[in-house]
Amino acid sequence: MSEIQFYTGENIPLELHKVRIVQKLDLVPVERRAEAINEAGNNTFLLKNKDIFLDMLTDSGVNAMSDRQLAAMMIADDSYAGSATFTRLTDKLEEIFGTKYFLPSHQGRAAENILAMTFVRKGSIIPMNYHFTTTKAHITRLGGYVEEVVIDEGIKITSDHPFKGNFDLGKLKRVFEEKGDRIPFVRIEAGTNLIGGQPLSLENIEAVADMTHSYGKLVVMDASLLQDNLYFIKTREESAKNLSIREITKRISAKMDIIYFSARKLGFARGGGIAIHDEKLYLKMRELVPMFEGFLTYGGMSVREMEAMTVGLEETMDMDVISQGPLFIKYMTDELVKLGVPVVTPAGGLGCHLDATRFIPQVKQEEYPAGALAAAVYIAGGIRGMERGTISEQREEDGSEHLASVELLRLALPRRVFTLSQVKYAIDRIKWLYDHRDLIGGLRFTEEPSSLRFFFGRLSPTSAWQEKLVKAFRNDFKESL
Ligand code: F0G
Repeated sequence: MSEIQFYTGENIPLELHKVRIVQKLDLVPVERRAEAINEAGNNTFLLKNKDIFLDMLTDSGVNAMSDRQLAAMMIADDSYAGSATFTRLTDKLEEIFGTKYFLPSHQGRAAENILAMTFVRKGSIIPMNYHFTTTKAHITRLGGYVEEVVIDEGIKITSDHPFKGNFDLGKLKRVFEEKGDRIPFVRIEAGTNLIGGQPLSLENIEAVADMTHSYGKLVVMDASLLQDNLYFIKTREESAKNLSIREITKRISAKMDIIYFSARKLGFARGGGIAIHDEKLYLKMRELVPMFEGFLTYGGMSVREMEAMTVGLEETMDMDVISQGPLFIKYMTDELVKLGVPVVTPAGGLGCHLDATRFIPQVKQEEYPAGALAAAVYIAGGIRGMERGTISEQREEDGSEHLASVELLRLALPRRVFTLSQVKYAIDRIKWLYDHRDLIGGLRFTEEPSSLRFFFGRLSPTSAWQEKLVKAFRNDFKESL
């Protein structure tokens, strides 16, 4: 992907790859979509793929793979122990991050489990720029607490700050001064998932690491979304613009004690793991891998996926590859801004994020605006997004609702999966919905699990708003799907 200039002046991203394998999609009629979202308890996680046209739920494990990744899968060595596949993967990680040790895990949250079991105790505090759902669940399960120290700008929906994922160094220092003895490590999420894929600057990452080390604590990076963050450092940070992606990656990893990641994102495959510089730290966590994941040289992953990951990590060092996501996301975000639709700005990584609070101000937070908007966008276009608001939070210990600081609908753009015309269709249907936003109402839980309720909870509309939406759609689109 490249910012190639068009003679006519049109400003669109140009793909530097071609499509060689395709998957047929269906677009079911609006009436079926309304039915399907109710069968799914108004929870987009529970929709069936046959009812979905554009699956923008996530970029996790659904990025397009390259011909080289597929080719590499054919040479996987499936020895239970000591496979050549594992050696190739650890060599690649050492080449990119300079880390000598690697603990494989079946995906990112499994790495989080290992980290939490090793370092988190009752009362522990883990400062981080922002939490991710599974990270927080693992920490709180063991009696620990998350302390968010992102800059104030980070949770402002509209901004022109290039690095909204930055730590507030003043806040971080205060946490160290006041509760330092309870902190086992600081977690840097690069880039942030729940606040719109917003990146951190290289300068901020280095400053956080230096401060943390000055208090004698460990620095842990969640690098699941690092590929987008590398692109943003290269394109938005003046002092980094002459550094190569490899150099930026090395600068970052040199300051980290531990780098863990979901390889469903980083490396465009499926799996995860923990890369470590220091042998003692490696040994501290090692025994948990065969106990919970699988033997030390595969950790629950398929060796084919590990081969694909090795190539994917190499391809992450290529700007043509890692720029595709951010440029498509920027296109979608900028077009929606032009149409007056409220979105998170500036465009970040991962996906385009609609601001449900401003999209449907009539829906109060207790009736889950981001969840309601997810259902409405599906009905309007067969487009599946992910609620990133109050439903994704856990209730407080006393059972009261923990209202999220932002109510977002994330429309993820898995890398190299959608074409520009499909993105244009999504923009068109979202604009239609925005013009009919008054019709949208709220949701209430009918089944609410006590943990990770966003995965399996079921909700129903608080009024007959979905029927009205279908009628309005039929009125405008007649025979069209
Ligand atoms: N950390 C971050 C920043 C993530 O985005 C994810 C997953 C994980 C950890 C957990 O990794 O899924 O491999 O177990 N994010 C996915 C998403 C689920 O849709 O954003 P995992």
